[in-house]
Amino acid sequence: MYVCICRAVTDNQIRQEVSHGASTMREVGQRLGVGTQCGKCSKHARSVIREAIANRPMEDPAIWEPSA
Ligand code: FES
Repeated sequence: MYVCICRAVTDNQIRQEVSHGASTMREVGQRLGVGTQCGKCSKHARSVIREAIANRPMEDPAIWEPSA
């Protein structure tokens, strides 16, 4: 579904950027252009970013365990 009409950015594109390390509206805006024209999509884009961060897989806990 399109989130940003001005830049033709979809929710899936935003989720993909979050999975590649983006975690703020500024970062996603720099990468995709979302929210950089009229700005009407910013609120929805932020909610997609928050949801994607909450659903981002956690890092492998094994890397945090002390080595034997
Ligand atoms: Fe995203 Fe206009 S709808 S900048």
